[in-house]
Amino acid sequence: MVTVALDELLPRADGPERRLTEAMRYAALGPGKRLRPFFLVETGRMFELNEQSLLRAACALECVHAYSLVHDDLPCMDDDDLRRGRPTAHKAYDEATAVLAGDALQTVAFEILVDPDTHPDGAIRAELVRRLAVASGAQGMAGGQMIDLLGVRGDLGTVARMQRMKTGALIACAFELPLVMARAKEAESHALMAFAQDLGLAYQIVDDLLDAEGDPSLLGKAAGGKDVAKGKANYVTLLGVEQAHERVRFLVDQTKSHLDAFGGRAGHLRAAVDFVLDRRA
Ligand code: IPE
Ligand code: IPE
Ligand code: MG
Ligand code: MG
Ligand code: MG
Repeated sequence: MVTVALDELLPRADGPERRLTEAMRYAALGPGKRLRPFFLVETGRMFELNEQSLLRAACALECVHAYSLVHDDLPCMDDDDLRRGRPTAHKAYDEATAVLAGDALQTVAFEILVDPDTHPDGAIRAELVRRLAVASGAQGMAGGQMIDLLGVRGDLGTVARMQRMKTGALIACAFELPLVMARAKEAESHALMAFAQDLGLAYQIVDDLLDAEGDPSLLGKAAGGKDVAKGKANYVTLLGVEQAHERVRFLVDQTKSHLDAFGGRAGHLRAAVDFVLDRRA
């Protein structure tokens, strides 16, 4: 569903710039888990929001995520050859095209959000744009990537801050955007943002564990202790594999407990916690 909507929203071109639009489509339409769109749409459904608005916001968020992966895989960053079971964008095309595809995926996200089809109220659209911009920029994903690349040797507090910025901010957007669209009450926003924080944290610990002990053929990206070999400070390098697993088990229950107030309305979100934290791929 999200993939179909993305296919419609992503640009196509006939001139020489077609190479760019093809690279954008290659990166965004590949077989990812669509985790952020899933959470965004399911949260919006809890508030009975319009499906078209939700799909558009979900596509915008997924475009920023896809851009972050294209740039994350570049030789100057993690230098990876495999993503979603296929060659990374700079391998399938070339580095310059991958840089441009990331740039243009980022800007198309804001183009989608700011369109009146996403929400009829201009003030709400402006707030959606602001939230996604903050989550993607120096205080969010890009800032977290900087800390990651510097390989800051630090304590768990430093790694937690890096995680909140690098991965947590965009995952949190999957909840923030529908909460903004729904003009949700303070208490509901608070509970869902706490859910998002714990989920994002557990998600990154699982990602770090999969890097250490996952099967690359299932994962569709490099593993085999690449983070350790690169001297990255993460939950597994700091806590060790056993304690990292322990922390995920603890976080699963804590994450779900934030949904108590929503009862049966949050059934899909609750089920998704087990799915994403038990994953092998
Ligand atoms: C990978 O994100 C990078 C992290 C933030 C851990 P996903 O695990 O959501 O990747 P895709 O979208 O399914 O490929
Ligand atoms: C990247 O984290 C998070 C992003 C902001 C893209 P990782 O570098 O651990 O993600 P993978 O393991 O390559 O998917
Ligand atoms: Mg990285
Ligand atoms: Mg990486
Ligand atoms: Mg990783």
